Amino acid sequence: MSRRKETGVDWENSGKPGKALWRVLESAPLKGLRAAWRKTTGRDPLSGDNRAYDFAQGRHRASRIQIVNHLIQVNGYTTYLEIGVRRTGAMFENITVASRTGVDPDPNAEADHVMTSDAFFADNTQRFDIVFIDGNHTGDQVKKDIENSLEALSPNGVIVLHDMNPPSMFHARETFEVDGRFPSWNGSSWKGFAWARAHRSDLTMAVVDTDWGVGIIHRGAQDTIDLDVPRYEDLAADRKTVLNLITVRAFLDRYATPIAE
Ligand SMILES: C[S@@+](CC[C@H](N)C(=O)[O-])C[C@H]1O[C@@H](n2cnc3c(N)ncnc32)[C@H](O)[C@@H]1O
Repeated sequence: MSRRKETGVDWENSGKPGKALWRVLESAPLKGLRAAWRKTTGRDPLSGDNRAYDFAQGRHRASRIQIVNHLIQVNGYTTYLEIGVRRTGAMFENITVASRTGVDPDPNAEADHVMTSDAFFADNTQRFDIVFIDGNHTGDQVKKDIENSLEALSPNGVIVLHDMNPPSMFHARETFEVDGRFPSWNGSSWKGFAWARAHRSDLTMAVVDTDWGVGIIHRGAQDTIDLDVPRYEDLAADRKTVLNLITVRAFLDRYATPIAE
């Protein structure tokens, strides 16, 4: 069965292409051709995504940064917390918001708070409008990060999570390093998300099918799934249900207006 049929959405085509292919697609001549085509037809023939989106940065495929900035803009958020920062240039600095707070235990990372998310939440008294969870990539830690973020979240706030839709079991491995190298990796973060899909009927949850799977969680309601101990096979068998996988178009439709308190 093809993955497209399996999930009902074109998730396979919406991830990042390989680096070499990406370089070709982004080279000056092809970029120009694509831009001209888009201008005429409103579609991008090479992105695997043939809808014309009215997205902030005008890209048909959304990045985690665009998703976060879109939610900030629509909801008028002012406070942002990033769990797992590493280099600020990759994400943190690109978030357009009045106040940004970063947490990362690695002393070489560029975070304001050099500590684990657990240590940060233990002493935190601040409320955040939007929390981005991208720290320790194990299911158990992501579950804790979700629970702690909910405690610190504004009434109409939102949690955004990275790496929620690993495309293969290899991507979903527990450890980043393989034989001294660091191939693409999403970890088992998705299991923390799946836990909340199974146990928290008081939350509204979805994963946007872009940039390795961008999870969205806020207060609301959902039909929980029957998945006590999530295994990769469960995810592969029915991504659409396990994650409540939605397209970028559906995300834009659902989050065109502010999240209700
Ligand atoms: C994938 S990187 C973050 C990338 C960044 N958010 C981005 O979008 O470019 C993950 C980071 O999480 C940090 N990290 C690991 N365990 C953590 C924990 N328990 N709490 C917070 N951050 C953690 C790591 O040190 C690493 O810098």
